[in-house]
Amino acid sequence: MIQVDISNIWGELSLPDLLSIEAELSAAHFTVSERTGAGREWLGWLDLPAWVPGAEQHRVLSAAQRIRETSDILVVIGIGGSYLGARAAIELLQGPNRNLRRSKGNPRILFAGNTLSTRAWNELTRLLEGRDFSLCVISKSGTTIEPAIALRNLKWLLERRYGTAQAKRRIYAITDGERGALREMATEEGWETFDIPSDVGGRFSVLTPAGLLPMAAAGLDIAGILRGAARAKERYELRSFENPVWLYAAVRTLMERRGKAIELLEAFEPGFALMGRWWQQLFGESQGKEGRGLFPAYAELTADLHSLGQLLQEGRRNIFETVVRFDPPKQRCVIGQDVRDADGLNYLAGKTLDFVEEQAFQGTVTAHSDGGCPVITIDCGELNEQTLGELIWFFELSCAISGYLLGVNPFNQPGVEAYKRNMAELLGNPG
Ligand code: PA5
Repeated sequence: MIQVDISNIWGELSLPDLLSIEAELSAAHFTVSERTGAGREWLGWLDLPAWVPGAEQHRVLSAAQRIRETSDILVVIGIGGSYLGARAAIELLQGPNRNLRRSKGNPRILFAGNTLSTRAWNELTRLLEGRDFSLCVISKSGTTIEPAIALRNLKWLLERRYGTAQAKRRIYAITDGERGALREMATEEGWETFDIPSDVGGRFSVLTPAGLLPMAAAGLDIAGILRGAARAKERYELRSFENPVWLYAAVRTLMERRGKAIELLEAFEPGFALMGRWWQQLFGESQGKEGRGLFPAYAELTADLHSLGQLLQEGRRNIFETVVRFDPPKQRCVIGQDVRDADGLNYLAGKTLDFVEEQAFQGTVTAHSDGGCPVITIDCGELNEQTLGELIWFFELSCAISGYLLGVNPFNQPGVEAYKRNMAELLGNPG
C-alpha cells in the first residue's frame, strides 16, 4: 500500500491542526462514496476499477493486438484528459524513450491533436512517411478543435496510403457512449468504437478505454492496472488517518488554508513527467475555481534542484512539496573504481546510483523543510502496473475528497469554456 510520510510538515502544521480536520474529512469522504455532493452525476469513475466486463476488455485487447500486428506507429489523437493518462502510464512504465527501441510487433506510440503547432504537425507527417500506421482518436465530446483538426488531416493521409476501405480498419474511436459528433462520425464510417461512460469526465477517464487501449497497444498489462486500482479502492475506503488518502487530502487542504499557493509535485524519475502533467490537470481543473485551489506545479529531481533549488530553499514561502518515490529497480547501477581518481569520486566506488539518489532525497527534504518549505512524501513501492493503478486511484480519490474540503464542485470545469468560445468566434465557427 502507498505510504504517505508527513514527518517533514511539522514545522508548518501541528498534530492538533491535523486532528481538527478529521470530522470534515470523514464527511467529505462520505460525500464522495455515497455520491451526495455537487457534481455527483460525474462520479462514474468510482466504478471503473471493476470495469472488467470480459467482452469489453477482450475487445480492447484484440484491437490492441491488431494495432501491434499491423502498425509501425500508432498515432493517439486527443487532448487534456483524452491523452494525458495514457501517455503518462506508457512513459512511466516503459520510459520516456520507449519509441527509440525498435522491435517488431511493438509500435511507436505518437501523440497528436494536443497542440496547434504547425512544426509538430510537420514533424509527425515526416515520421509517418513510409511507415504503416493506425489512428486511435479519443474525444469525449467529439468537438474539441485540436483533435478534430488532427483527425481530419490524419484520416486523409491514411486514406491516401491505404484507400478508403482499408483506412477504416485502421481507425479506432473512443468517445462518449451515447452522444457526440465523434460517435456519429464513427458510426457512419464504420470504425471500431469504444465507450467512455457518459458519467466519467475527461480527467477521470484514464481507466476507461481512453487510457487502456493506447496502453495495451504499447504492451502494458491493463488487467494489472485495473487490479491495482480495484485493490486501492477497497483499501482506501478506510475512514481514519491510517488511510494515506486521508493524510494527503488533509495536509494539502490545511496547507491551502494556511495560505500556501503552490503544491510542487516532484519525482526522481524522468519517466514521471507526464504523470506530473496528468496530476496537474486532475487537481488544477478539479479545484481551481471560485478563487480557490493550489497551483499544481511539477518538477523533476534531481535535475530541477539545479534550476529551482534556490527558490525552493529561500524564495517566497508560499510553496510546499510532494515527492513521489518508487523502490529502485532490481537491476542496479554500481559506481566504478578509477585508478587515477581525477574526479575524486573513488569514495563512492562500489556504491549504487540509487544509494546516491537516496542521500539526495534525504538531503533535499531536510534542507527544504528546515528552510520553511514543508515536504510530503508518497512512497509507492515497486514500480509496476499494479502500483500505477493504485497511484491513479490514490490521486483521484484524494482529489475528490480534498475538492469537497475546499468547498468546490470538483467535477465541473466552467472556466475551460471561455477561451474555446472566444476562439470559435474568432475562427468564425457558424455553430
Ligand atoms: O477533463 C476534461 O474534461 C478535459 O481536459 C477534456 O478531456 C479535454 O478538453 C478534451 O475534451 P474531449 O475529450 O471532449 O475532446
